[in-house]
Amino acid sequence: MYICLEGIDGAGKSTQVKLLEKWLEDNGYDVEMIVEPTSSPVGVLIRKMLQDPRATEPEFQKMLGLLFAADRLALKDKLLENEENIDNDNKIMLSDRCFYSSLAYQSPFEWISEINKYAKRPDLVIFLDIDVKTAVSRCQGIDKFENESFLKKVSDNYTKIDNYRKIGENSLKKHKKENFLVINANNGSNLVHHDIKKALAPYLGICVDGIVD
Ligand SMILES: Nc1ncnc2c1ncn2[C@@H]1O[C@H](COP(=O)(O)OP(=O)(O)OP(=O)(O)O)[C@@H](O)[C@H]1O
Ligand SMILES: [Mg+2]
Repeated sequence: MYICLEGIDGAGKSTQVKLLEKWLEDNGYDVEMIVEPTSSPVGVLIRKMLQDPRATEPEFQKMLGLLFAADRLALKDKLLENEENIDNDNKIMLSDRCFYSSLAYQSPFEWISEINKYAKRPDLVIFLDIDVKTAVSRCQGIDKFENESFLKKVSDNYTKIDNYRKIGENSLKKHKKENFLVINANNGSNLVHHDIKKALAPYLGICVDGIVD
């Protein structure tokens, strides 16, 4: 299973993947963590570019879009390898971001979708939904992305992705069977973790607090 956490900068993805990793391992799953951008040479270049003052400019975003798509190609082989490994059906690939980040951050939408057509789609997306101001207040201002006006656009794009998916519009039609679990990420870490477990449990057949919702 390939599970991905999504959300704008400061939403709490890195915090929650760590908590989730532990919970899944405690429940007997073999968890492999993925972080995008990856540690490949392309991923290293992306991390450097994210700190460039031009990072939010449209042309720079297009370069990033291509690099992210390339970084995901390297990842695809690793994901397929795990998928084909039938001896280990309790394996979970847990990812901090996936191709939905490119759809939300970069544009134009159809082009980003096209250049990512070989990227593996997650089985489940946990979307950390957060107020932009709250998210910015949690950021350290390292990346250029971490400003309110830019993140407001990204946040709106995430909402559009979810709506498109629900009504099956345009190129997201083909992603319709993917599951987006929307979690209120404005709350404290423990409550967010609890809500993620509750949302995820039915897909894994795990009980949370003795109750399967
Ligand atoms: N629920 C929460 N309440 C308050 N602070 C939080 C919460 N979750 C995370 N934080 C803090 O907010 C900051 C950002 O969290 P985190 O790094 O997990 O976000 P992120 O979504 O991974 O951001 P980025 O996309 O920039 O990597 C961290 O300092 C973290 O300790
Ligand atoms: Mg993070």
